[in-house]
Amino acid sequence: MALVTTTEMFKKAYNGGYAVGAFNVNNMEIVQGITEAAGELNSPVILQVSKGARAYANHQYLVKMVEAAVINNPDIPIALHLDHGDSFELCKSCIDGGFTSVMIDLSSKSFAENIEGTRAVVEYAHEHGAVVEAELGTLAGVEDEVCVEAGNESYTRPEEVEEFVDKTGCDSLAIAIGTSHGAYKFTAAQCTRNEDGILVPPPLRFDVLEECIKRLPGFPIVLHGSSSVPQEFVKIVNQYGGNMPDAIGIPEAELRHAAELAVCKINIDSDIRLAMTANIRKYMAENPSHFDPRQYLKPARQAVKDMVAHKITNVLGSAGKA
Ligand code: G3H
Ligand code: 13P
Ligand code: ZN
Repeated sequence: MALVTTTEMFKKAYNGGYAVGAFNVNNMEIVQGITEAAGELNSPVILQVSKGARAYANHQYLVKMVEAAVINNPDIPIALHLDHGDSFELCKSCIDGGFTSVMIDLSSKSFAENIEGTRAVVEYAHEHGAVVEAELGTLAGVEDEVCVEAGNESYTRPEEVEEFVDKTGCDSLAIAIGTSHGAYKFTAAQCTRNEDGILVPPPLRFDVLEECIKRLPGFPIVLHGSSSVPQEFVKIVNQYGGNMPDAIGIPEAELRHAAELAVCKINIDSDIRLAMTANIRKYMAENPSHFDPRQYLKPARQAVKDMVAHKITNVLGSAGKA
């Protein structure tokens, strides 16, 4: 199977009550870990590249590695997506360079500017066989260079979604319902504590999601900022010289519920970073004499694979849906 767009994936996911995982890729081990997990579990998968990833690894390297992953996993659909594209030029360059899907993220602009800029990308993408994700509402956390403090995010306004989709022709829509980018999604002030003193994040705004679904029946919704920041990995990082106080994510049960509704794409990056870093920190501490990168990158790649397998099986529900 060659690289595919997300159109068929989303149709099946919408009707099947599951979501496709969109995992950020920055290097070979991450590409391999993700696609090996998806291949073994017979799951569709989206590999996404941010502007920062492209600056780090170079467009050609990333595309060629993803093409190699497609060759090595011929039985599953794989899409290559630009994450948080911030300009027409960036989206065009990715489409021209082999991406099957792009996100144009003008969510920090006015409604009218967001429509106008998204529409232009949609026209170009559709003429070239690619699809477009757009965004309404802003998440807290860091998206490329833009940082929104927790508490200053703004939820998607359901009354805007029909007009936006209608006027832009976008193929999927990212909405803000309380998820957030990075490993520090909420301040302590936004959380409550359970009986064991553990921070409990505020619940996602399912009322906003359900209102959007009502207004856009059959239309694929996307959730960004959907890492769960598993505390066992935070503990390993901190135990082996790291310092990640108060790292907190979105409970997996809430994401599972969103996946059963119209959410067809769930973005996960931080949990992969956390799995890799926890693993490498532990490995380095336990093997101080090792200096061959393969020695620590091999288990780190396995940690990525295990994390993605867990997401596919227990959060996304996409196993066996290729
Ligand atoms: O939403 C942002 C993604 O996690 C990508 O992060 O810009 O550091 O590559 P990045
Ligand atoms: P996390 O930081 O929660 O993994 O979100 C990633 C994301 O939304 C990429 O676009
Ligand atoms: Zn994002």
